Amino acid sequence: MVYGGDYNPDQWPEDVWHEDVRLMREAGVNLVSLGIFSWSRLEPAEGRYDFEWLDRVIELLHEGGVRVNLATATASPPPWLSHAHPEMLPVMADGVRLWPGARQHYCPSSPVYRDAAGRLVEAIATHFAAHPALAMWHVGNEYACHVPACYCDVSAEHFRAWLQERYESLEDLNRAWGTDFWSQRYSSWEEILPPRRTPTWPNPSQQLDFARFSSDALLECYEIERAILAEKTPDVPITTNFMAFFKPLDYWAWAAREDVVSIDSYPDPSDPASGMRAAMVGDLTRSLGRGRPWILMEQTTNRVNWRPVNVPKPPGLMRLWSYQAVARGADGVMFFQWRQSRAGAEKHHSAMVPHGPLSSSPTWHDVVKLGRELGGLDPVLGSRVSADVAILLDWESWWALELPSKPSNRVVQVEQLEAYYRPLFEANVTVDFAHPEADLSGYKLVVAPSLYLVSDAAAANLDRFVSQGGRLVMGFFSGIVDPFDHIRLGGYPAPFAQLLGLHVVDFLPLAVGSSAKVHFADGASAQGDVWTEQLRLEGAESLASYSGGVLDGQPAVTRHKHGEGTAYYVSTQLDGPALARLLGHLCSAEGIEPVKVPAGVEVVTRTAPGSSIQFLLNHRDVAVDVPVEDAGVNLVDGAAVHRGLLRLPPHGVAVVREGW
Ligand code: GAL
Ligand code: ZN
Repeated sequence: MVYGGDYNPDQWPEDVWHEDVRLMREAGVNLVSLGIFSWSRLEPAEGRYDFEWLDRVIELLHEGGVRVNLATATASPPPWLSHAHPEMLPVMADGVRLWPGARQHYCPSSPVYRDAAGRLVEAIATHFAAHPALAMWHVGNEYACHVPACYCDVSAEHFRAWLQERYESLEDLNRAWGTDFWSQRYSSWEEILPPRRTPTWPNPSQQLDFARFSSDALLECYEIERAILAEKTPDVPITTNFMAFFKPLDYWAWAAREDVVSIDSYPDPSDPASGMRAAMVGDLTRSLGRGRPWILMEQTTNRVNWRPVNVPKPPGLMRLWSYQAVARGADGVMFFQWRQSRAGAEKHHSAMVPHGPLSSSPTWHDVVKLGRELGGLDPVLGSRVSADVAILLDWESWWALELPSKPSNRVVQVEQLEAYYRPLFEANVTVDFAHPEADLSGYKLVVAPSLYLVSDAAAANLDRFVSQGGRLVMGFFSGIVDPFDHIRLGGYPAPFAQLLGLHVVDFLPLAVGSSAKVHFADGASAQGDVWTEQLRLEGAESLASYSGGVLDGQPAVTRHKHGEGTAYYVSTQLDGPALARLLGHLCSAEGIEPVKVPAGVEVVTRTAPGSSIQFLLNHRDVAVDVPVEDAGVNLVDGAAVHRGLLRLPPHGVAVVREGW
């Protein structure tokens, strides 16, 4: 089990390095992400490399038994580069060029940046390729975190080239972008620009293509580095750290280019939904890697520095969320960062080694304890988490859904995902995320929350899934546009009308503060928020209808048999309990049973051939008794676990390997 954090020894004098390695051993650290922001130290002037200090650091780590996730150091270009080539700095939509002095100040399309980064990576890879401590490559850092897109002239030219490849003819681009609207028809490629700041909404199809382009432009930067590393060290795995439900990058495309998917996760300790949100991040990360074990690359021991108020993690929460990551498929738990900085913008961000004396530091105590415990979790390594339920997520649809100028701007992709994820999480039904064009045949239940944009392939895929016996739940405002963000004509939602057995006659979004009453056929009542729709059923049956208002008596939730399967449609945002009931019925119809444990306890199982390991995680700040069905051993402390009730302390965890 990998354990460690970002290590920035260049911020410290050399005697501290010795102390670091000693403390790493004490904490059970076995991997550090090294030199993520070290470019200006590694290449103090153009073409002059200084690896000598890093050699010494790596040697010390190696002697201490700590392996290295070596960074390519390209996330923060050095002052000499932007000084010599200010044109490599990124430009915002309003034409403002960002200055150096923080980090990530580069235009993703800049040949100056790309060449300089490539040369640095080449030099690093050549120098360190053979070092036995080298365990993994850490490419860049949180691509797009601060600068998701650049609107400069270089980017404009790159965008045009990207468009030419996509559309080939200008006529096709004009058609795809609907440029006959508002006199936007282009007569030459040179006229095309990124969607810079305009008097009102820029062309939505242009914005959508620019979002695709911007994700691709950064992916090219990653690919330039990856190709160099893969050539020099074919056997060393390559990763770059993702940022969970991060809109700017199409992580399906990115994850396909990684050996190991890794993620940074910073749930807010003051948010009561954080446990659920962190679980969702874990499930996404595992799904991006197609089920392979992943690494929690960054989390905090305690406070961050970047919220308006940075509350601490209460005792036990850091440990709990670490186990939660492992439960959901991580084979490694790492932190930002090893030693808390003394200078710079992140000196008030917590770390594994805090500023104060360690002897009295609860953080340090917890870090050491966790390291010791994770050391006993090797039986978990390589095991998998399997799910019967998938929630669909497509970045392109997300981008299109949240473009402005809609019936309502209250339909937010992540909120819609969460609405469906929450009841499944609370029932301890494990969920994968899947791309709508992915093979869904392994799932019994598929949920499509506000899948606004669909390709023909995705529409056919969902139809096939249901026809062949699957159960699909589709949320409102799905299937509305094609990949160019053009309305799919023929009645909403045209590609799903047959599948769902209905048409949407009209959208009736709800004003802030208003809601709709919904009555289920079985007598239960519920509340609808955000959105309602007028439906015309064409084969579907109504499971619930609106009550009161203009939609009084009209269907709100429907069911339709299609081929061997069943498709449900939910035309409003049902309240949590109602959605929980609905999903509960569908799960039990598929034989997917909730795990019956006290509320606030999370249960996830990792399996490998011949072994099953159950994680029991108490998110509450009181002790709970959790029923255990199969005896085993608790890998956390080696204690035997008997059939019956197992007591979990506040924020306590157990990792029960069955059959021992
Ligand atoms: C991440 C980043 C780290 C550090 C951390 C602070 O976004 O990768 O370098 O800035 O946040 O929380
Ligand atoms: Zn640019």
